[in-house]
This record gives sequence, C-alpha cells and structure tokens, in this order.
Amino acid sequence: MANNYSLASVLGVFLVFTLFHTPITVSGQNIPTVALFTFGDSNFDAGNKQTLTKANVPQGFWPYGKSRDDPNGKFSDGFIAPDFVAKFMGIPIEIPAALKPNVNVSRGASFAVADATLLGSPVESLTLNQQVRKFNQMKAANWNDDFIKKSVFMIYVGANDYLNFTKNNPNADASAQQAFVTTVTNKLKNDISLLYSSGASKFVIQTLAPLGCLPIARQEYNTGMDQCHEPLNNLAKQHNEKIGPMLNEMARTASGFQFTVFDFYNVILRRTQRNLNYRFFITNSSCCGVGSHNAYGCGLPNVHSKLCEYQRSYLFFDGRHNTEKAQEMFGHLLFGADPNVIQPMNVRELVVYPVDEPMREVWVPTTSATVQASDSSSSSSRGYEFY
Ligand SMILES: *[C@@H]1O[C@H](CO)[C@@H](O)[C@H](O)[C@H]1NC(C)=O
Ligand SMILES: *[C@@H]1O[C@H](CO)[C@@H](O)[C@H](O)[C@H]1NC(C)=O
Ligand SMILES: *[C@@H]1O[C@H](CO)[C@@H](O)[C@H](O)[C@H]1NC(C)=O
Repeated sequence: MANNYSLASVLGVFLVFTLFHTPITVSGQNIPTVALFTFGDSNFDAGNKQTLTKANVPQGFWPYGKSRDDPNGKFSDGFIAPDFVAKFMGIPIEIPAALKPNVNVSRGASFAVADATLLGSPVESLTLNQQVRKFNQMKAANWNDDFIKKSVFMIYVGANDYLNFTKNNPNADASAQQAFVTTVTNKLKNDISLLYSSGASKFVIQTLAPLGCLPIARQEYNTGMDQCHEPLNNLAKQHNEKIGPMLNEMARTASGFQFTVFDFYNVILRRTQRNLNYRFFITNSSCCGVGSHNAYGCGLPNVHSKLCEYQRSYLFFDGRHNTEKAQEMFGHLLFGADPNVIQPMNVRELVVYPVDEPMREVWVPTTSATVQASDSSSSSSRGYEFY
C-alpha cells in the first residue's frame, strides 16, 4: 500500500510538472502573426481578374478548381502556391483577392491580376505599379506600419512582358533583347522600391519560369514535344540573372530591406527534364485544353477542351499554369527549401528574421547547381540537383 501511495504521489508530481511546464516549442508553431501579400500575374491571382472584368472568365468555371470542386478564379485545379505558403505561415484564413468586395484582408491579400505586366497598360488588368498603388490605397484602413514591416511580400511578374515582346519581335537581336530586359528589370526595381517606401521590408521574388518550355509556348511555336522555344528561355534567363544582384544592392543601400529569391526557373526545368524523379508523368503538355500540347482554351465555353483523368500526374494544368500538386510542391519549397532552391533564406527564415536587421547573407549565383536547358545529360547522380 505504502509503495502504491508513493507511486501515486510521484505520478501526481509529474502530472503537475507536465501541466504547468512551458510547452516545448514545436518547429513551425512560433511563427509571428503576420500577413502574406502577393503581387504579379495569373500565377498569384486569387480571383482579381474575375472581379475586374465584366466578361465571364474561364478560370471561374469547371474544370478550374475541380480538385476542390470550387472554380474560384484561380488558375489551377485547386489551390495555388501562395495558399500553401499562407497555411505554413499559420494564417488561418485563405488569402483573398484584394479587389473582391467584403473580403477579410486581416492576414494579407492577393493584388495579383491575370495578364499583369511590368510595362505598358494591360487590358483589364493592372501593372505591378498599379497593384502597389492599390495596396497603398487600402493600407490606412487595414494594416498598421509595424504589421506591414513584419509581413511577407511575394512577387511573380514579367512573363507577360516577354511573351508579348517575343510575339511582336520574333527576330529581335541580342542587343534589342538586352535593352528590353534592362527596361523590364529597371521597372521591377522601381516598383519594389515603391513597395519598400510604402513600408514593406520582407520580399520574396520568384524568378521567371523557363517560358519557352510552357506547353502553350511549345504549342504556339511548334517546338515538338521534347524541345522548348529557346528565345523565350533566353529572355527569362537574362531577366533572372539580374534579379539577385539587383536585390543585393537594394539590401545594401535601403535600411531594413530583406529579401529572398526563389529559383522558379530551375524548379520547373528540373521537373520537365527529369519528370519521374519528381513523380510527374507528363510535363510537356497540359492536363486541360486542346492542340498539340493540349495547351489552349481550358475552360473556354466554345472550345471542346480535353481534360486529363488524373491531374496529379501532370506538372501543368493548363497551357501555362501548374496543377495543384505542383503548386503544393512550390509552397513547400518556398517555405522550407535550402539555398539551392531559395536563397539567401527560405520564407520560414525570412518571417522570423528580425526586422530592421541587415541581412547577414547575400544572394550568390548558383552556377554549379544550375541545370542547363540544353544539357540534360549532365549527371543524374549528383544529389544536389534533386530539389
Ligand atoms: C478576419 O479573420 C481573422 C482571422 O485571421 C479573424 O480573427 C477576424 O475575426 C476576421 N474578421 C472578420 C470581420 O470576419
Ligand atoms: C505588347 O507589345 C506591344 C508592342 O510592343 C505594346 O504596344 C503593348 O503595349 C504590349 N502590351 C502589353 C500588355 O504589354
Ligand atoms: C520534355 O521536355 C524536356 C525539355 O525540353 C525534354 O528533355 C524531355 O525529353 C521532354 N519529354 C518528353 C516526354 O517529350
């Protein structure tokens, strides 16, 4: 009896200790309460284009959203990458489209609109500059300065500028290309600066995909199944090379400016070149659409689109947007990948990085891990390329 009694009290003491001891912090749970703001084109559009245009948009109809039974204006069969990043940041509600009336923007909003560009004035869309101005209009009523400074600003834009340029200038020589890339990237820098003057300090910039490998580009330029349209890839590469150095300079000269660069170009390229390593069966044609690469017209009422049976086998859902399975992968990579994919830090590290503190690391070119579009034979045995 005595033994049982003391055992009970020992257990009791343990119980009390367990109940009142500070809980062990589980990784991912101590993320500060901040917001996620996204800017750019259709890849990050959470329904703004649908709100902006008077016409019916394909992304508002089945089969968009089909994996969630919810065609909500996003370009995927379900959620998009920022939805996953928001979830990993512990944000309890979906990041809404900023242009939609009566949405809850307390933990961020998407300002991205399909067809957005950096230059020009896109039809029924907004340039990045106009998106930033829209953010500024909404700021006072919704978010205070401290909250904005701690929050994450994700940007993906520029693809439409280069697709348009290539369409209008199919024979542009190297110097015309360089001049255009310089104009586009300077505009991007100005718009990021404007966002920084608006109080933002934590930036996630995504490099452009290998645009010539998008199913819609392969289809429109008749590249065949295993070739990409290289002029578009070259423009994307020239653009991407400028991003890191540009942001390094901003971090050096603008106090409190913090950033990271997500290497989307190689994330897509690796999946198209070694699809089975990443568990995609089809990466060069899309799941939904018509044409040689099934890349045109998904969701359009007057087009008899084909729809693949199993979305999760595909990298691309339509001619230029990824399936939910791929978007979820991107979300994980953005949030938690190593510097081979996102550098100098991932979103998880960026969120907890003290505000106003200078970055201890800079962006560096990753030549060794960069996959060359033309050289798919280069060692599938080197582990570091598999991310
Ligand atoms: C908005 O969402 C937050 C959760 O992030 C919640 O606390 C708040 O009550 C919501 N506001 C409204 C008006 O629903
Ligand atoms: C596309 O290119 C043409 C010709 O250069 C230009 O006039 C137009 O503004 C561009 N459109 C967009 C949306 O950038
Ligand atoms: C898909 O495209 C990549 C890159 O262009 C190429 O290496 C690969 O062979 C293609 N796959 C198929 C099945 O054609």
